[in-house]
Parts: sequence; C-alpha cells; structure tokens
Amino acid sequence: MCDETLAIAGGSPVATESFPSPWLGPAEIGEEEVEAVAAVVRSKSLFRFLDHENSKCTQLENLFKGMTGCEHALAVGGGTAALICGLVGIGIGDGDEVIVPAFTYIASASAVLICGAVPVLAEIDESFTIDPEDIERKITPRTKAIMPVHMRGIPCDMDRILDVARRHNLLVIEDCAQACGGRYKGRALGSLGDVGCFSLQQYKVITAGEGGVIVTGRREVFERAAIRHDSAMCFWNPADTTIGPFPGENCRMNEMEGALGCVQFGRMAGILKRTRALYRRIHEGIADCPGIQPHRSPDPEGDCGIAVAVLLESGDRARRFAEALNAEGIPAASIYDRGIPDRHIYCYWEYVMEKRSSDAHGRPWTSPLHDVSRQYRPDMCPRTLDILGRAVIISLAQTFEDRHAEWIICGIRKVAQGVR
Ligand SMILES: Cc1ncc(COP(=O)(O)O)c(C=O)c1O
Repeated sequence: MCDETLAIAGGSPVATESFPSPWLGPAEIGEEEVEAVAAVVRSKSLFRFLDHENSKCTQLENLFKGMTGCEHALAVGGGTAALICGLVGIGIGDGDEVIVPAFTYIASASAVLICGAVPVLAEIDESFTIDPEDIERKITPRTKAIMPVHMRGIPCDMDRILDVARRHNLLVIEDCAQACGGRYKGRALGSLGDVGCFSLQQYKVITAGEGGVIVTGRREVFERAAIRHDSAMCFWNPADTTIGPFPGENCRMNEMEGALGCVQFGRMAGILKRTRALYRRIHEGIADCPGIQPHRSPDPEGDCGIAVAVLLESGDRARRFAEALNAEGIPAASIYDRGIPDRHIYCYWEYVMEKRSSDAHGRPWTSPLHDVSRQYRPDMCPRTLDILGRAVIISLAQTFEDRHAEWIICGIRKVAQGVR
C-alpha cells in the first residue's frame, strides 16, 4: 500500500531505493563480450574481408538473417550508415522525397538529406509512431519512399503503412534503430518493408559500441547498399555483384564490433523476455487507473516493452505528473516540454528547419529537381507536439526487478489521483 500524500508534498516516496540504470545491452556486458573482442584483437585480423566466410561480421549478418527471415543482411558502421545505405539500396537520390515521422532521432532525416533527397514530415498519432493518414496527406509527385520508425521499441502500424505504400507505389524503409528484436503481428521488424535498418549503438537493445545492420529480401537492394558501404565493394567479391559499380564510402563494420554484436545478439531474447514481462505487468496494473490514458501499442505483443508511457489531458499536467513521479523515486520524464532541445523532436532539427547544407550551393535543398519552395517551420506538426507534450514516459530495462514494476504501478496510480 502506498502513502496517499504525494512525496512532492511531503509524503513518503513509493520507491524506497533508486532504480537500476536503464541500459539494455550495455548492462549485460560481461566476460563473454570481453573474451570475444580480445580474441579478435589477438588474432590481428580486424578487417572483415580478410576471411569473409569466417568473419564475425558475416556471423552477425547471419544472425540478423535468421531473426528477420530476410535473405540478405549487411553489417555497417552505425545506424545512420544503415539508413543511408538502405536508402541508396532502394534507389533514393536527388529529387526524391521521403516521408519521415516528426518524432524520430534526427539521424532519420539526416540520412535522407545525405542521399540528396529531402525529408517530408508526417505527424505521429497516439501510438507515438507515424500516422498512416498523415502519410497519405503528405504524398506529392516526388514522394518515393516512406520511413516508418519503430520508436522506443514500439512497432508502427505496418498494415496501414504498407497499404498506403502499395496504393501509391512507394517504397518502405523501416528504421528499426530503437526496436531490435521487435515484431509486428508475428513478423520481425525490418522484414516488412523493402529494407530494414538497425543500430547497435550504446543506447539500443543490444550494442556493439557502434554499428548497424541492414536487412532486405531484395538482392539488388542489398547489392546497392553494399556498394555504397564500401568504395571497393566490387573488388572484394566481384562474382557476387550483378550490378555495375558506383562510388561508395567506407562505413564497414570491423571485426571487434562484429564479435561484440554476436555475443550481444545472444542476449537479446533474454533482455526482451524480461522487458516485455515488466511492460505487461505495468500495463495490467494501470489499465483501470482514472485520469490517464496508457499508451496503446499497434502490437503490444511485438512491442519491445522498453518504455511505458501515459498520456495526460494537458501538457501542464504532464509536466507536474512527471515531477511528482520523480519525487516518488520513479525515473519518469515528459517528452516535450519546450525547454529541452530534444533531437528526437522535429522542431529541434535546426538544419532541417533552416534548410542548412554543408555545400556552398545549398544542396540538396536547392536542387532543381526538388520543390525548392518547400518550407519547414517549428509549428508545422502541431499534433505531434501536442501528443508529445502530454506524454510521460518511463524507460524499462531487464535489470528492473518485480518490485520496480510494482513501484511504477503504485507511483502512477498515486500521482494520477494526487496531481489534478
Ligand atoms: C530512430 C533512430 N534512427 C537512427 C539512429 C542512428 O543510429 P546511430 O546512432 O547508430 O547512427 C538512431 C540512434 O541513435 C535512432 O534512435
């Protein structure tokens, strides 16, 4: 039972101890990871194409093929690199528009720009993921692709997104950076669109320090992505390439990352089993709580379960709700409160809002193939700002014990009653 007086008003906090850190993959790093990396270093064979068949990067790619059922996988240097290579893989370039959600890490939009295309922003809905109806409103004759982003491990409403894509003949690139191991109606995220892109950076479900993986069922998408990821790709295994060479860069994964990624991959099922159990328990515990709207995932079963969110009726209440939860010892945060320039919210993407460029001619914004009159404004996606402003989010990690879940439930119920 909880003390009914809010801790923020002098009552006893619900949580009697601090929560463990919310790291996912990094919290699991142990001797196995250390040994795997050390073995690569000892071998002095750090470059994946020295022994392609036995390389750790190849092994990691095989694990991702197994997880997604996709015929092709490519390990790259990071999640942003995965998006860039994935976009090149599906043929995105100058003059193209890609519809991205207004709530995603800035890298999703940046990757589009790096390819010479421009991002067109679509609202999110109460799922915190891209709103399929707004995608349809944002389509123009230049639209070539949609980039659903499975934010905070929440699967997007892929049935509706794929339906829009089919009807308008658009390609789909899934940004799975935050949702490794997530599913939608039984299918692995990353395998539903034309190409799926993962990140193995520190904050993700599993980590290789840095790193990314692309998956696709389409041979020519894989080849184009692979050529982009290595300026000499066509030389490493010329027999493998059916399309001609074009300039690439070097965003290869190295063998140390590959080895770390393989060990972490083995930990993913355990991490997600635990986060999903916590997520289910907390949702059961707050389902009938008056005055809050628990977040509804497009597929609660497939959701990674790494965050629990509630929506309040106003931004003001959300801010006070988060403060009161913090006083109860629950690590909660409101998502958008105007003060914090969170790079996951489009209005803080200054180089998009101001159409900045690294080149003196202002490309890609100024390309004659683009609609150069397209403008971006911090208030252009009001629904996204409204939803994020009313949201309070709590990150979950496999390191949380049952009592942490009970404290979260008790804290939310207590604060829902005490903060009006
Ligand atoms: C949604 C999303 N997309 C893309 C990225 C880029 O990944 P990386 O940092 O590995 O380049 C991230 C993570 O940082 C992300 O959260």
